Amino acid sequence: MEFKKVNLVYFSATDVSKKYAQAMGKALEKEVVEFDFTVPENRDPAKAPAFGKDDLVILALPIYGGRIPNICLEYVGALKGDETPCVVIGTYGNRHYDDAVVEMEDMMNAQGFVVVAGGAVVGRHSFSDNIAGHRPDAADLEGAAEFIKLVVAKEGKKLPDGTILGNRPYKEKAAGAPNVLLPSTSDACIDCMLCANTCPTGVISKENPREFAKDASFCLRCNSCYVKCPVGAKAFTQEAFKKTQEFCENAFGKPDKENLYWL
Ligand SMILES: Cc1cc2nc3c(=O)[nH]c(=O)nc-3n(C[C@H](O)[C@H](O)[C@H](O)COP(=O)(O)O)c2cc1C
Ligand code: SF4
Ligand code: SF4
Repeated sequence: MEFKKVNLVYFSATDVSKKYAQAMGKALEKEVVEFDFTVPENRDPAKAPAFGKDDLVILALPIYGGRIPNICLEYVGALKGDETPCVVIGTYGNRHYDDAVVEMEDMMNAQGFVVVAGGAVVGRHSFSDNIAGHRPDAADLEGAAEFIKLVVAKEGKKLPDGTILGNRPYKEKAAGAPNVLLPSTSDACIDCMLCANTCPTGVISKENPREFAKDASFCLRCNSCYVKCPVGAKAFTQEAFKKTQEFCENAFGKPDKENLYWL
């Protein structure tokens, strides 16, 4: 496949999608440009990039409820290609990828890209350190590097329909009840502001990270604030969250799933 530049386009609350995308970018030994649209100020659809025939685009997104997260739809929908080869990677927390990767494939093919390969790969589930908490590990990232080298060694033709697994029509999205499971902040907080500055929804106040800047129900439970806090001050302490966590750990905490790649 001929291309001059590798473009990593990703949303990544807890760095799972980012780590996979960067491992692929690094493996190709070409110029790499990153479009990280995780935080609101980087997610203006009017500023979404357009790509040409000399680009390779690797789109990496977390999977929420077996679909593309709503928070990603506008920006991803504004990306433009010009017969640009594209690889779609969905990252998921050891439950299932369901229809998210075919949804990514369909969106990108409809927007001028040519989807040449895809993957459904495992990372720490947002809700628990006990669900794939160590992933992606070194073997996952080596696998991602090997995969992308195989992809670019090929001709760069559109993947035949049905190669990437998933259903069309896609599974229904769960009805969006307002989220009441929210992170709290302990006295250990040192006001470093990392949580507020990296929160994908901007719900944590930038004046006081113990407070919410806007309607807290916008919180995605993405766990970015919990994972990134350097002193362990952010946590989901509500009993109802712990119940959800326990349910998920029992339902799909084990065994660790294998990464799937389609090319
Ligand atoms: C609201 C929500 C819904 C999720 N739904 C799923 C799911 O359907 N299947 C799954 O295996 N993991 C699910 N996850 C886990 C994430 O897909 C997983 O942790 C992902 O790798 C996080 O990637 P990121 O760090 O790049 O954002 C969900 C996470 C959240 C916050
Ligand atoms: S407050 Fe909610 S949306 Fe913001 S980083 Fe924490 S879990 Fe994610
Ligand atoms: S990341 Fe942790 S220490 Fe820093 S402001 Fe947020 S809660 Fe406080």
